[in-house]
Amino acid sequence: MYSSKIKGLGKYVPENIVTNKDLSEIMDTSDEWIQERTGIKERRHIKKGDGNSCAKMGVKAAKIAIERAEIDKDDIDLIVFATLSPDYYFPGSGVIVQDVLGIETCPAIDVRNQCSGFIYAISVADQFIKTGMYKNVLVIGSENHSGGLDMTTRGRNVSVIFGDGAGAAVLSRSEDDSKILSTHLHSQGQYSKELSLIGPSTQHWVPEIIAENPQENIPYYPYMDGQLVFKHAVVRFSEVINEGLDANDLKKEDINLLIPHQANLRISQFIQKKFQLSDDRVYNNIQRYGNTTAASIPIALTEAWEEGKVKKGDVIVLAAFGSGFTWGSCILKW
Ligand code: UT7
Repeated sequence: MYSSKIKGLGKYVPENIVTNKDLSEIMDTSDEWIQERTGIKERRHIKKGDGNSCAKMGVKAAKIAIERAEIDKDDIDLIVFATLSPDYYFPGSGVIVQDVLGIETCPAIDVRNQCSGFIYAISVADQFIKTGMYKNVLVIGSENHSGGLDMTTRGRNVSVIFGDGAGAAVLSRSEDDSKILSTHLHSQGQYSKELSLIGPSTQHWVPEIIAENPQENIPYYPYMDGQLVFKHAVVRFSEVINEGLDANDLKKEDINLLIPHQANLRISQFIQKKFQLSDDRVYNNIQRYGNTTAASIPIALTEAWEEGKVKKGDVIVLAAFGSGFTWGSCILKW
């Protein structure tokens, strides 16, 4: 059996910075509330006409990852694209990436696991490399949240949290001892509606939405029971990190760097305390980008690597929890 490793990383965020103060001018919120409850100071939003889309941001991040991996785009055997905000209802965004990158043909899979999307996508890529079927897999997490948020007071508990951006990783067959050690994935559909965007969908099509003419909880905007999600997140994050550590005979002291999905700084701090990790062993950047869902881990991992915080031989732990509910962890030796 082969092993896979991350050979190249890249990220892209739109130039347009939206501060908490900017939001407080269009809805009833405040910098104080947002920072105290989430840690977020600002996020990036695509600007109409700036040429970005979910797939196109993914391409920008991917180009950097491919260059750093020192491979050619035509060496890519598979694209795995994770998002909850694809360019189209169908087809998936992976095929757009394949086209814009100029790869004539290659398989492309879209993964729909929201905040856990990047962990799921890494796991899919890892399995294909382990079996020997593929050598180089391009994994992308990208989100264009701003295109679909309710930017009024009605939607403030969701819309202040989310931001746009993309991160990418090239996974390749490992020739040395750096490798993905394990991935662990979970879901619990019992809570599928607690963090969701119900319509338009085949279960809730546009005419029904218009006929119902709802004044509140409009189902074509995201809905979240924030407190319920928070309570489950802190439990599942801990469980799935421990599951990964146990499977690899590792202890919390062995973690060199934990990169949690950037959902809320309070969640990250809770996990940090639980695993008794010093500040330099946890990476957070939610302050600058908000929650970028499937893009949050690859953006954070790329920045940590660029800042020299990821070193050869380090044990890196990635973990996520979100809509589905879904959750997962990935432990890798750099
Ligand atoms: O990445 C996917 C997974 N997602 C998560 O992990 C998110 C988990 N949940 C959270 O991060 C938090 O629940 C939130 C940040 C979403 C909300 O924080 P909270 O401390 O749970 O606040 P809350 O929802 O209990 O709301 C408290 C108050 C309410 O007012 P009342 O009823 O006490 O008068 C809300 O209406 O804050 C109000 N509120 C706001 N006020 C100002 C809600 N959103 C806002 C806002 N600005 N943006």
